[in-house]
Amino acid sequence: MSIEPIPASLFPDAATLRENGVSVGGVELRELAQTYGTPLFVYDEATLRARCRETADAFDDGVAFASKSFLCGAMVRLAHDEGLCVDVATGGELDIVLRSGVPADRVIMHGNNKSNEEIARAIKEGVHRVVVDNFDEIERLGELVNAGTPVNALVRVTPGVEAHTHEYVRTGQEDTKFGFSVASGDARRAISMLRELTGVTLHGVHAHIGSQIFEVEGFCQSMSILSDFTRDDDFDELCVGGGLGVAYVSGEKAPSITEWAHATRAAARKSGLRAEVRILAEPGRAIVAQAGITLYRVGVIKRVAQRTYMAVDGGMSDNPRPVLYGSGYEAFDVDRPLAARAQSVRLVGKHCESGDVLIDEAYLPADTGVGDLVATPVTGAYGYSMASNYNRVPRPAVVFVRDGNAREVLRRETLEDLARLEV
Ligand code: LLP
Repeated sequence: MSIEPIPASLFPDAATLRENGVSVGGVELRELAQTYGTPLFVYDEATLRARCRETADAFDDGVAFASKSFLCGAMVRLAHDEGLCVDVATGGELDIVLRSGVPADRVIMHGNNKSNEEIARAIKEGVHRVVVDNFDEIERLGELVNAGTPVNALVRVTPGVEAHTHEYVRTGQEDTKFGFSVASGDARRAISMLRELTGVTLHGVHAHIGSQIFEVEGFCQSMSILSDFTRDDDFDELCVGGGLGVAYVSGEKAPSITEWAHATRAAARKSGLRAEVRILAEPGRAIVAQAGITLYRVGVIKRVAQRTYMAVDGGMSDNPRPVLYGSGYEAFDVDRPLAARAQSVRLVGKHCESGDVLIDEAYLPADTGVGDLVATPVTGAYGYSMASNYNRVPRPAVVFVRDGNAREVLRRETLEDLARLEV
């Protein structure tokens, strides 16, 4: 069987595919591998900026980039430059974002189990919004907030919408650890309790129904429920959360950020949401996924009766998504991106687990072999951010490319880095 080359739509915006190479942002992937080594995350800055700008244009002011999808200083400064707020889910994410120079009043603090320290830091720094998740948090806020240390808040609610996606990343249903249920009355009780706290200004409600969602219907349903639910409140914001899906493999198609925004906005207005209420969102994946490519070097080919194993110099440590969610990816040969892909292999990593599979059935040119550069596109989201150093494999470097220039934004982890916590 021979498979067509992978479609250009899975590559970053500023990618050029030729018979004998791929350049992104005007820089040859082959040269990047030579300069920075492999595995390597390469991000096209043009794609990142375009998606940030599209998000800022499509939603109202206060719309955020979900930094958990890919967090480093360069990324959050870029998102901030392009007009987005930055959403963080823990004190660790908050710390990196603040160190990066993003002003606290452009940061939105999430979390289903915020510690006293995390809440206190968010308040002290003066974050833009704290998204309140549960009754224990309300109690903690009661102790930490007063007229002198005010906080602007949203309430996270579960609208009871079952999103069509993997159960591990589904969050809008009733049976979830996140948020206050609308149906049970908890969300209404939470709003009343927060209104009684001196120093808390409540701006509206927030719902995040899940991640990697291809159909806009779930978001529209969620927006209608939230609009109905807040009909008699004097709120000025409604947030649909993140979760817009992206195409990872040939044949998949996802709505654009603009289409997503139009659909959710229309659903909210149709349900009677007042025109002055800002409609917000916090996409992560839809901004960063397609901008990123991971470069690997092939080290070993092993043929068994059932298949061919092709082992690369990374694996589940730089991309745990196939193992965690059964996620699909495509692969291409960096030096022959337009060649027919006549070779079927199981693309595996270098970790000590049979489950260390990047692509169960990858198609590559017939002569791709040991020493060649193989890359997986659409790895910009939840790859680096969920990377580990399992088996003490150092985390890859991350490079941004733009207009013919490359800049390293995260250096490769070293063996010294790996030893630094030993006491
Ligand atoms: N807002 C909240 C409250 C979230 O929990 C998330 C993601 C987002 C926004 C951004 O969602 P996105 O637009 O990126 O789908 N590790 C999984 C995804 C987990 C998503 C967690 N929350 C994966 O690799 O598919």
